[in-house]
Amino acid sequence: MPVTLKTPEQIEKMRVAGRAAAEVLEMIEPYVVAGVTTGKLDQICHDYITQKLHAIPAPLNYKGFPKSVCTSVNHVICHGIPSDKKVLKNGDSINIDVTVIVDGFHGDTSKMFFVGTPQPHALKLAQITQECLYKGIALVKPGARLGDIGHVIQEHAQKHHYTVVREYCGHGIGEVFHEEPQVLHYGKPDTGLELKEGMTFTIEPMINAGKAQTKLKRDGWTVETKDGRLSAQWEHTLAVTATGVEVLTARKEESF
Ligand code: MF3
Ligand code: CO
Ligand code: CO
Repeated sequence: MPVTLKTPEQIEKMRVAGRAAAEVLEMIEPYVVAGVTTGKLDQICHDYITQKLHAIPAPLNYKGFPKSVCTSVNHVICHGIPSDKKVLKNGDSINIDVTVIVDGFHGDTSKMFFVGTPQPHALKLAQITQECLYKGIALVKPGARLGDIGHVIQEHAQKHHYTVVREYCGHGIGEVFHEEPQVLHYGKPDTGLELKEGMTFTIEPMINAGKAQTKLKRDGWTVETKDGRLSAQWEHTLAVTATGVEVLTARKEESF
């Protein structure tokens, strides 16, 4: 399947879905405290998505994923499965990744939260990873190329002696959750797909404190760092506009 270009009407639907996904991350913040389980966070998100937003949690039953959001704690890179047995404790860092479907269109976004007092090295990793996302977003406009985005992310991570996860990437998104193109978080300037108005895709860098290598757990979903060191991730869903970019999943605290 080629890369799809969305019409203004489709982009408007993506805007609604993106705002809904962002709202879930805004809503869940006060619940991320010591003693809560990731299973409880999933349940709160599920109920909010279905009952308040009248939306569909896209991960639930997606290729067999059993829950409504992904919760990735500390050395878990992505696709952590919420569990009633996983109790958050002071100092933990957690990525919550929300994807909702509204009127047939997807909004996909994630951010890092800290439980109680963040560990300074975990805070730094999360901050630099967010900067990687923002530097990628800043390059999005018609005529830019995907390699430009991957490159700026890779350079910023490496400048801080971090590594970029290579096995997982951003993706085109719309009526389909994961569609073309693949958006790598590393690369070379002036290479790769040229962006055009109407493209919609995610940027979602996963940055490790130690080595880049990943390990898939026996549950078939949970992706961890092989060396057990911390990982961080932030994600937005974007639309390429005539002159630049629109961040469809922007939260109230953000200004683009
Ligand atoms: N939201 C993830 C992404 O950013 C995908 C999760 S798929 C799931 O692409 F099945 F693990 F939920
Ligand atoms: Co995504
Ligand atoms: Co996501």
